[in-house]
Amino acid sequence: MRDPVRYSDSIETIGENEDETFDKIIAAMAKGGKVTRERYGRSVRTSHAKGHGLLTGELIVADGLPPELRQGLFARPRTYPVVVRLAHVPGELLDDRKVSTPRGMAIKVIGVEGPMLPAHQGQVTQDFVLDTGKVFNAPDAGFFLGAISATEAATPMPEGVKAAVSAMSRAANAALNAVGLNSANLDFYGHPFNHPLTEGYFSQVAFRYGDYVAKLGIFPDLAGLRDLAAQPFEPEDENGLRTAVTGYFRTKPAEFSVRIQLCTDLDKMPVENASTEWPEDESPYATVGRLVLPPQEAFSPARQAAVEEAMLFCPAHSLAAHRPLGSIARARMKAYEVLGNARRRENGTPPVEPRSVDEIPA
Ligand code: HEM
Repeated sequence: MRDPVRYSDSIETIGENEDETFDKIIAAMAKGGKVTRERYGRSVRTSHAKGHGLLTGELIVADGLPPELRQGLFARPRTYPVVVRLAHVPGELLDDRKVSTPRGMAIKVIGVEGPMLPAHQGQVTQDFVLDTGKVFNAPDAGFFLGAISATEAATPMPEGVKAAVSAMSRAANAALNAVGLNSANLDFYGHPFNHPLTEGYFSQVAFRYGDYVAKLGIFPDLAGLRDLAAQPFEPEDENGLRTAVTGYFRTKPAEFSVRIQLCTDLDKMPVENASTEWPEDESPYATVGRLVLPPQEAFSPARQAAVEEAMLFCPAHSLAAHRPLGSIARARMKAYEVLGNARRRENGTPPVEPRSVDEIPA
């Protein structure tokens, strides 16, 4: 493996007038949010609206890491409490039996020390906001604006139309997968039916990794999860993903290996293009820790109030040492704050940013 690229502020290329593009993205998503507010009688997230797991656990940083991996919150072996929210991607509460989309895993690490990004000064949390799939379906914010306008146009459409599109996309995606290809676009409605605890979750966009630049992946790593992956999965009811996740955690734990992919070549592993897959033969994912989620009640009413409603998982909730990088990341840092704060304001829910895991109800 070549030496990792050293971080410098010049790694990012700030686009001319990109703030205008970010504001247009926010306006398009807010429009979708208005439709869903009327439909559900309350504000839901304008992306990843439907949660299927609200969990607590630990992030255990590995001992004996090589110097290039001992960075930021992974600088020394220690155990951090975490809150995790699992969700499907659309900003709507869709029937899991009819529409299958990629899924998200948002992780809030608590008790983090060190200089924070300006908007997160005084806080002690680091959020990693991840999705299934190693790349994002848009290279940059301008492209995303075009795509999001089409997705928002679909929000008012009846669920039956999305169910038909989902079935077709799943078939086409399965055909691509069978020959070793996949498409992040087809995956939007055509994600294979599988248990949410059997997949990897990825940062998709690059972020600063202390002295270096990296992407992050979380990989299921426990015999129980491998058994689950080997079994066929069909959502058994409208909230089938939640039924599956809560059922699993009533008796069993889940564990994931936390891995970092260092950027070793800025041409092949760009930070401004989030749809380029970084070649793993040049820089493989290296384990830096474990995410351990013990058996628990994974979607209790108390957690719904404290985590689903009151919390914001946001890429800008970050140590300066882990600043998200690239056009998509810059758009996200603004969009989550604006839309996540509007969601909570509209619902009359005071925002909460935890300082201790004791604030999270069992
Ligand atoms: C320009 C691109 C993107 C924009 C504008 C965007 C915007 C948003 C917004 C507004 C929310 C809801 C915030 C709230 O109300 O709490 C959200 C949630 C979320 N997004 Fe994105 N997103 C983008 C790209 C991505 C990418 C690349 C990923 C993953 C790799 C991702 C993963 C998630 C997840 C997991 C959530 C749910 C967080 C939670 O559980 O609260 N998003 N996104």
